[in-house]
Amino acid sequence: MHPHIEVRTSPIQGRGLFAVAPIAAGTVVSRVGGRLVSGAELAAVFAAAAGDPDHPYIDTITVADDVHLILPPRRPNGYGNHSCDPNVWWIDAYTQAARRAIAVGEELTNDYATSTGIADFRMDCACGSELCRGEVTGLDWRRAELRERYGDHWTPGLLDLIRRRR
Ligand SMILES: C[S@@+](CC[C@H](N)C(=O)[O-])C[C@H]1O[C@@H](n2cnc3c(N)ncnc32)[C@H](O)[C@@H]1O
Repeated sequence: MHPHIEVRTSPIQGRGLFAVAPIAAGTVVSRVGGRLVSGAELAAVFAAAAGDPDHPYIDTITVADDVHLILPPRRPNGYGNHSCDPNVWWIDAYTQAARRAIAVGEELTNDYATSTGIADFRMDCACGSELCRGEVTGLDWRRAELRERYGDHWTPGLLDLIRRRR
């Protein structure tokens, strides 16, 4: 995670990522790694988490067709909240960069729809932006206005889906 970012309590939900110094547009803010699994393996991990009394949160992104990255828990850059008008977006499967200049104190957010292709994913959204969709789903990549807004700034798995749909 970029050194100009720290984890703090967020008005969106729980904790989030905040700029402690200005971040210029295009700056790489976060790189992620983890374990690559198939859709079937991911479903088994979700099922195990649902049956675990601690209900551990499984943080995952769609990297390619039937390839998902499970991110390790308790990483600072795992606290990125979603916004329907994000200031951070994906520039490749593992890297996020500032979509616009980010001021000191601003929360860094990304649009979960640009990295989640799990058909039954759904989250009520409290981002509070004027563009808020109210909910985020694993099928939002089908929305024309999002494809136009984000251009190529989707994880490669989602870009493949978008291109095949065209
Ligand atoms: C990767 S975590 C982000 C960090 C989280 N805020 C925390 O404190 O652990 C993703 C979770 O944060 C919450 N979240 C993120 N963005 C949200 C939003 N726009 N509206 C409501 N909840 C959100 C949801 O509970 C989601 O499952």
